[in-house]
Amino acid sequence: MALFFVIVFVNSDIISNNTYFKIKPMKKLVLASFLLTIPLLAVCQNGEKFVNDLLSKMTLDEKIGQLNQYTSDGAATGKITVDAEKEKQIREGKVGSMLNVMGVDKTRALQEVAIQSRLHIPLLFGLDVIHGLRTTFPIPLAEAASWDMWLMEKSARIAATEASAYGIHWTFAPMVDIARDPRWGRVMEGAGEDTYFGCLAARARVKGFQGAGLGNTDAIMACAKHFAAYGAAVGGRDYNSVDMSLRQLNETYLPPFRAAVESGVATLMNSFNDINGIPATANSYILRDKLKKEWNFKGFVVSDWGSIGEMIPHGYAKDSYDAAKKAILAGSDMDMESRCYRDNLKQLVADGRVPVSFIDDAVKRILLKKYELGLFKDPFRFCNEQRQQQQTNNADNRKAAREIGEKSVVLLENKPVNGKPLLPLSKKNMTLALIGPFAKATVENHGFWSVAFPDDAQRIVSLYDGIALQLDKSSTLLYTKGCNVKDEDTSNFGAAVDLANKADVVILSLGEAPDMSGEAKSRSSIRLPGVQEDLLKRVCATGKPVILLISAGRPLVFNWAADNVPAILYTWWLGTEAGNSIADVLFGEYNPAGKLPMSFPRTEGQIPIYYNHYSTGRPAKNDDDKNYVSAYIDLQNSPRYAFGYGLSYTSFDIANLKLSSDKLKIKGDKLKVTVDVKNTGNYDGEEVVQLYVRDLVGSVVRPVRELKGFQKIFLKKGEMRNVEFTLSPDDLKFYNNDLQHINESGEYDLFVGNSSQAALKGHFELTE
Ligand code: NOJ
Repeated sequence: MALFFVIVFVNSDIISNNTYFKIKPMKKLVLASFLLTIPLLAVCQNGEKFVNDLLSKMTLDEKIGQLNQYTSDGAATGKITVDAEKEKQIREGKVGSMLNVMGVDKTRALQEVAIQSRLHIPLLFGLDVIHGLRTTFPIPLAEAASWDMWLMEKSARIAATEASAYGIHWTFAPMVDIARDPRWGRVMEGAGEDTYFGCLAARARVKGFQGAGLGNTDAIMACAKHFAAYGAAVGGRDYNSVDMSLRQLNETYLPPFRAAVESGVATLMNSFNDINGIPATANSYILRDKLKKEWNFKGFVVSDWGSIGEMIPHGYAKDSYDAAKKAILAGSDMDMESRCYRDNLKQLVADGRVPVSFIDDAVKRILLKKYELGLFKDPFRFCNEQRQQQQTNNADNRKAAREIGEKSVVLLENKPVNGKPLLPLSKKNMTLALIGPFAKATVENHGFWSVAFPDDAQRIVSLYDGIALQLDKSSTLLYTKGCNVKDEDTSNFGAAVDLANKADVVILSLGEAPDMSGEAKSRSSIRLPGVQEDLLKRVCATGKPVILLISAGRPLVFNWAADNVPAILYTWWLGTEAGNSIADVLFGEYNPAGKLPMSFPRTEGQIPIYYNHYSTGRPAKNDDDKNYVSAYIDLQNSPRYAFGYGLSYTSFDIANLKLSSDKLKIKGDKLKVTVDVKNTGNYDGEEVVQLYVRDLVGSVVRPVRELKGFQKIFLKKGEMRNVEFTLSPDDLKFYNNDLQHINESGEYDLFVGNSSQAALKGHFELTE
């Protein structure tokens, strides 16, 4: 016991707030894993015993209560049932968790009620802390564009520190759904289209939220969601069905969940969709066979909002009795908001339809997490007014948000104007016209899935303010809105044109409204809404150089702009510090290095579009090849902007590809791949060097390219660095037709460069 406490103390000290970010990621990983092993074992053993003792004292009603989760009245992402008697039910031990209750006062008040229950079992408080709480970070898809796992971990760490100070024990994040369809509004919540990348992001985010481990007061439970394949909804329409081979499911959609489990994620959430006809909520293949058996997951699974009851309209359950039975037998442990468990489990046990051991297993999983969080020792340990105060306007957190914001921006175009790229802008002697519905926006910068506070409008930095703060006195900043985001009103176009005519450079800030991406926000057209593109055309017609900034939660289609506007920055929704981050990029205080985590289509007709598609028997040689090949007669196959693409103010040359051998043995071998990367431009900057492979022949058709490694490096102008990747046979495994994860010997092409269209090519053979 003494050893246990000493180690916990040392561990939480090393990874405390101030020192955490100074330790190098790799060293930190090794150190943390070593130090975590012993205390975790101790927690598990003590926890098991504690939970078993407690379980033996519980009535069936109390057990079922632990599986029941309610929302606070008011906040809803689905049908809301107002229960006048929630507090009474909590006091009677009929509620295990609440969602959407936030703040020390509110969580304390309800926790006080919970511990009046017969066995004094505390509540879990869960909330969608998707990209920050008090400090809002870029939306997860934007952050993914940083290709910086360390930063992604850092923003999750800060979000957890703030959330835990606001009484929260549990976030419903990260979303680790692979998303290949930008019509689906929820692409904004994840890490994009690639499975390899998605696994790394899942690990980073879980680690960030759970910090040095549950039990530390700044660590909250993460929740990998939505299990599974939610991003593959037919037609990109939210909640829609998913029909795919089990091979595809295992190869593309499940690995990020497994990565989250391997990183110790405490919980998973069901997805709303059915998979091949079986709703995920009652899908024992994914929940029992994969998650709980093959992956040995010891945490618990929460349903999505009402998803147990939704199996009735799905046509998979006859009534709530049937739905509860199917969900619990399949392995869904906690019922968010449907009340099916509350109303039916007792009867199901009495009728002999559900063995009580299934309920015991679910309850134990939940109680164990409460134990690990330390709630049985002190149910109020997350209710510390002083901590909440410290995290309310935390300058360090805002600084981090500004940095992560800069790194999320993707420079899509920077063509020369008068012989020189338009960006970066000078701060001096400039008349800038700032036009567009997002120019003075504040709360919109938080995007979808952010936590609202009454003072948001005052504390969120608008683009206008961010630019004004940095502009030299010798310069002038002019502003007009030009148009709204969605409507057809063009009455301000004249004023916008006049303003543009007075300026040296125009900055146009256009995009999607925050309620156009996110849950239940699928779009069939992913163009700039309203009259924004018309405004752009009118302003460009003045002949003034235009910089276009696009705020959005998903890849949009904007071909006219891509062809005609010299400079385009994709600025997503960057959060509390949005205006400062964008101004830093505009003025070259930060040289953009973001790379797209999703392919950007030319039109909606190309969707789903993703770089790692299979080859056909009639592949097109290029975009012009239409001769009885797999192509559109009216459209190119290539995306407008490729996965992994993004420019910099400087330029990089990637050359001299070398492989340590032209053979890689399947057993115990490694292949070293090196390239020379040189900064050949005029600015210091970062580049993401990306490695892709192509397995030329397989027992099942293999993707035309697959990301297998990347490194983000900083080079001073003129500097050159040798970058080394190591490939091992494990990196080349795939699921064969019998669902075995295997290596097959054969020939591979390899590509290194700065996007998924990298041309530098090598070749090797994987041998027995
Ligand atoms: C429904 C969403 O699908 C899920 O992601 C979210 O966590 C819950 N509602 C709770 O708000």
